[in-house]
Amino acid sequence: MDQKSSSSLNPMSLRRLRQTPAIRELVTQYRVSVDQLIQPLFAVEGLRDRESVPGLTGTFRETPDSLLRTVESDLEAGVRKFILFGVPGQKGEKSFSGDFTARQIGALRKRFGKDLFLAVDVCLCSYTSHGQCGILNAEGDHVENCATVQQLASLALEYAGAGADCVAPSDMMDGRIRAIRKALDENQLYSTLIMSYSAKFHSRFYGPFRAAADSAPKGSTSLKDRATYQIDPGCPRDAYISSVRDAEEGADILMVKPGMPYLDVLSDLSKRIEKPWAVYEVSGEFAGIELMAERGLVRGPEAHVEAWTAFLRAGASMIITYGARYASEYLKKTN
Ligand code: PBG
Repeated sequence: MDQKSSSSLNPMSLRRLRQTPAIRELVTQYRVSVDQLIQPLFAVEGLRDRESVPGLTGTFRETPDSLLRTVESDLEAGVRKFILFGVPGQKGEKSFSGDFTARQIGALRKRFGKDLFLAVDVCLCSYTSHGQCGILNAEGDHVENCATVQQLASLALEYAGAGADCVAPSDMMDGRIRAIRKALDENQLYSTLIMSYSAKFHSRFYGPFRAAADSAPKGSTSLKDRATYQIDPGCPRDAYISSVRDAEEGADILMVKPGMPYLDVLSDLSKRIEKPWAVYEVSGEFAGIELMAERGLVRGPEAHVEAWTAFLRAGASMIITYGARYASEYLKKTN
């Protein structure tokens, strides 16, 4: 900066601290690191070849073999943290087998050992023939809480036994954290973490995910959506109450989901509840940025990093994002 203009700055000038990359690096408060990012993985039973997912650039519905190759290349790119969604070929209504998902957990653990941190999503929506997150009553118009919680606890136990570092229930039934913690304790799985999707809203931003996980409500019953168990977008009070409850029931990590449309909730809850906070940048938010980038309306890498920075500012210490595997490349471009 030339002398003349700097001498004309007033003493309160903020621009003095923005003059050069070096000064900006020294004064910045939040900088995203790949270490804070968790990459989602989809393992789908019965596929011949892996399939791309519309809207989610670089994310695939993986076969058991391609899953291992993908994780290998992610580890090479410095991504060590994952959340696995298992999608079984056989769908059910009342009882479910976690064996396909458990086999993928076992295979990942055998191949990569403790190099990877593996969380596993626990929900029934990829397991049910109707796509709801639980077991329906006889009339098909209500998701039964108790019966569903029992199934979730037994799946969580199976995943933990197969080697998951963390189980992450995303179903939004009441009391599932207590049931899962009890099942883990009774089986001496004391070190398995529980990451609760404690503030998960009934959002319209889950579309691309549901295609990847075969989990859209099928409309074959009178229940058309997930409004009777996920949190209403206008009711942040529920997000607070269920997060406090899940922490008391034994969750180690709490979560707000989606991210960008709920930054106010993340900022508020992370200040009020002293727990590690995760945020899920969900499929629709991620795809939105990708679509704008494709149309030349934003620069994708910079826009993704800006969104992640907002999550850190709002109080998250970890971010689940479909862009984790590109983050080191993106961060080089922006930092
Ligand atoms: C399953 C589940 C969903 C997501 C994660 N776990 C979708 C849903 O509730 O319908 C959404 C993730 C995303 O959109 O990226 N219950």
